[in-house]
Amino acid sequence: MVSFDARAILARLSALREADAPTHGGRVLSYVYDSGVPEIDALAAEAMRLVQPVNGLDPTTFTSVAVMEREVVGFARELLHGGDEVVGSVTSGGTESCLLAVKTARDVWRSAGGTGTPRLVAPVTVHAAFQKAAALFDLTLDLVPVDPQSGRLDASLLTARLGPDVALVVVSAPSYPYATLDPVEEVAAACEEAGVACHVDACIGGWILPFWRAADGAALPLWDFRVGGVTSVSADLHKYGYAPKGASVLLQRDRDRQRHQYFATTGWPGYPVVNSTLLGSKSAGALAASWAIVQALGARGFAGLAESCRRATRGLQDIVADIEGLRVVGDPTGPLLAVATDESVAPERRVDPHHWADRVRRRGWILQLQPGLTQPDGTHLPHTTHLTITPVTEARIDELEAALRGAAQEARGVPPVDREAVLASLPGDVGGTELDSATAAHILGSLGLAGGGTPGLPDDQAPLLALVEALPRPVAERLLVELLARAVEPPDA
Ligand SMILES: Cc1ncc(COP(=O)(O)O)c(C=O)c1O
Repeated sequence: MVSFDARAILARLSALREADAPTHGGRVLSYVYDSGVPEIDALAAEAMRLVQPVNGLDPTTFTSVAVMEREVVGFARELLHGGDEVVGSVTSGGTESCLLAVKTARDVWRSAGGTGTPRLVAPVTVHAAFQKAAALFDLTLDLVPVDPQSGRLDASLLTARLGPDVALVVVSAPSYPYATLDPVEEVAAACEEAGVACHVDACIGGWILPFWRAADGAALPLWDFRVGGVTSVSADLHKYGYAPKGASVLLQRDRDRQRHQYFATTGWPGYPVVNSTLLGSKSAGALAASWAIVQALGARGFAGLAESCRRATRGLQDIVADIEGLRVVGDPTGPLLAVATDESVAPERRVDPHHWADRVRRRGWILQLQPGLTQPDGTHLPHTTHLTITPVTEARIDELEAALRGAAQEARGVPPVDREAVLASLPGDVGGTELDSATAAHILGSLGLAGGGTPGLPDDQAPLLALVEALPRPVAERLLVELLARAVEPPDA
């Protein structure tokens, strides 16, 4: 007989959870999507418990998986205006949906006679998951610059790059960094004419844009399967589907295209392997939770929550526009926005968005700092601060407004972190050589970032982001890998 003290084990977990950033209540404006409806969370938890021992690997053995997946995909297909020719899968999240969209397109391209290394063309604002996909599946990533002021893509710049070596074009609805709704109709029409696949990454927008209207109340430009040239769409259930982490939908137009998503082999002495997604054995938990939530909320429930997000987003846009020294980037579509310095005011009246975010954090609200980026054409995208708005934001918007305004007051006139000074504070020259783990840890230690145990990020993140921007990319990426790797390593003996 196994004997254990469940209460003590769970008490420790509860204590660990106390140290987490709050997942509910709207204080963290990224990562988490609180519907504000506790009954939805309770339903999801019970659904996950019911399928806890199930293996989602084989929907012919665990038939509940087939039924739930079919029904979730059916709901998503209707929401995104797909016809009978649109089929799909539930994946473990946005990244997996994006990876599979790329793998499918590459294999379709190859089966049509493509040889060599295909290209993946997308605006610079496309989610980093596509950088990962290009690296994993061996495509050349061809990133198209966007307008540095608005973050908007000029469709003609992208469509000029179409050619027989392009396996996939990706546009976003909307993009994560600036909430830009890419010109899907123009891009997809050109793709269709050129015979190139076009994926719409609606990971963040897929479950909320169907209920969204433009600022003037007008309907949005079309971005889903109503656009003829769109061949696939990803839409995350664990974002505005309010499901626990681990669920997204990838829809593909045309069964024959979608079959390239699968991996199948009978070429080993074990059971025949047929996987629709990247994993083998997998949990059915997030699928069951998503399935239950979709039934509980239905289109009307999602619409109501979207409406609250829309009001809160408009309110926040107005608040930021009213804060001297800050500006909202471009014309965001959906419940997210990026905030940059308003360079039209005098330097002493400007607010640096990273100093602002650090000061907002001291007031108990966590915004997300985004680094600046030099685009392939040499133009520079400024660093920004990101806010993702959820249905719980609206009820607390006055409190949040006070924090945003107070923080701006404090940060106004404070110049951005001097990147050269940050670089100079590093021990020795870190740019030239490939860093080993010990050297990387030493550098992190000198910055106060990697002690023993779980590293918290520093309270002020502006210097860290300045470092990320100032260092050569491979060095910055290597240091961040070391930081995250050391966070989960057992202590040295
Ligand atoms: C547009 C977009 N695509 C892809 C992803 C990746 O999703 P995930 O973090 O679920 O892997 C995100 C995440 O924010 C996103 O906003």
